[in-house]
Amino acid sequence: MATNFNAGEKTFYLETFGCQMNVHDSEKVIGTLVQQGYQQVQEETDASLILYNTCSIRDKAEQKVFNRLNDTKALHKKGKRFAVLGCVAQQEGEKIFDRAPYVSLVSGSASYRNLPQMLARLEAGEERITGLDDRQTDQTFETEFTARSNPYRGYITIIEGCDKFCSYCVVPFTRGKERSRTADSVLAEARRMADAGYTEIQLLGQNVNSYRDPSGKMSFAELLAAVGEVAGIRRVRFTTSHPRDFTRDIVEAIDAVPTLCDHVHLPVQSGSTQVLHAMQRLYTREWYLERIAWIRAAKRSISLTTDVIVGFPGETDADFEETLTLLAEVNYDAVFAFKYSPRPNTPAISMPDSISDEVKSRRLQILLDHQRELQRISYAKHIGEIVEVMVEGHNAARGQVMGRTTQNKTLNFTTGSPILPAPGSYVQVRITGNFPNSLLGETLVGEALPGDALYSPTLPTPTEASLPKLVTIGALSA
Ligand code: 5AD
Ligand code: SF4
Repeated sequence: MATNFNAGEKTFYLETFGCQMNVHDSEKVIGTLVQQGYQQVQEETDASLILYNTCSIRDKAEQKVFNRLNDTKALHKKGKRFAVLGCVAQQEGEKIFDRAPYVSLVSGSASYRNLPQMLARLEAGEERITGLDDRQTDQTFETEFTARSNPYRGYITIIEGCDKFCSYCVVPFTRGKERSRTADSVLAEARRMADAGYTEIQLLGQNVNSYRDPSGKMSFAELLAAVGEVAGIRRVRFTTSHPRDFTRDIVEAIDAVPTLCDHVHLPVQSGSTQVLHAMQRLYTREWYLERIAWIRAAKRSISLTTDVIVGFPGETDADFEETLTLLAEVNYDAVFAFKYSPRPNTPAISMPDSISDEVKSRRLQILLDHQRELQRISYAKHIGEIVEVMVEGHNAARGQVMGRTTQNKTLNFTTGSPILPAPGSYVQVRITGNFPNSLLGETLVGEALPGDALYSPTLPTPTEASLPKLVTIGALSA
């Protein structure tokens, strides 16, 4: 039964699946809903409108959404309305209404700019509302009403969509064609964030480095440098880069602008040129390694991370071996590895999924063990260094503070003081130990009490009570 919401009943619950792009889209969707008079609640049972912002990068991610819908569908009988947003919405379109008839709104990310109109139709009691752009739009979703979930570290989308069409990847079909925001609008947002107390900005895009300023003023590297020069901004990150568009001036910008972080995420996907060709990645192993050599030749010590797919159709043991040798050659600080999952609409779906799940699982395990060993050795090399971390949270039980280095490494440290530095503050820490995925450290005893020079004197120190829960972020595609 359709319900028209009454004033005071416009409450919503929103849950996000998937990558940072989705996390940030949700922040914009929440801002838009609040602007339309809705109030966010933390439980589905308290909401009049339940929204799921979905991911379809692998089959497992997609199934999670349908399981979630199944778990909560009984709430429909209590008059609640359901909306499916994001990548599964765009991919499945109106089929979602057949599979989950209690859903009223289905919208892909390329249609979010029409959300206010779609919400008005929902409130008027319409049952089947769709926003399904199939690579038509050249507009981006920009709003002043972004409800950022973290008060000191925030995202800015600089480019939406993807034109690369890697043969395994659903993203070009779910997020539409590439469209960039003007450099002026990105910089205006960065300045607004700095004015509001943000010190770290992460530029987002499926392929950030295929950014093309519609006004023609700036290249990606110039925009990166300009954001890094915004007064008050201390750290700038960017995700995700496609090797094909990775240019040398990005490394030059990192060398020249101290606020640009010492980290590049450069997904390789495979170490075998033959597999890269079948994946339509548009580069060879050697071509990729040449970009790595540029990054390694920088004056700064830039940390490298990557994404890998194992078990792509036709991947032989020898191909897989080449991925292992590439990991050792590059010496990444983190590898996000996935078993190949056939996706609808993609060219690879018509290639026989020739590698059994057993072999995929075995290769994944070998790769993760191999990488773990590499990281155990490389992380140990940090012992004795003094680095700056941005504090992200506390582990009260262990009396530890959790922070992140400019290389994006997690560093858990003790302070030797009962007064712990607040999230959002910057602290100098000496590294004393390591695990394969994180570092251990201590502040310099007696030198790092709040108010000391080691705490940034220029920064307002937020209190922990004023901070919302930290968001867990997943990987982005490229
Ligand atoms: N199967 C497995 N992994 C995939 N990825 C993208 N598409 C697929 C797929 N069909 C991985 C890539 C990408 C990361 C976000 O997800 O490694 O970089
Ligand atoms: Fe998932 Fe890719 Fe969509 Fe992000 S863009 S939500 S990773 S399918």
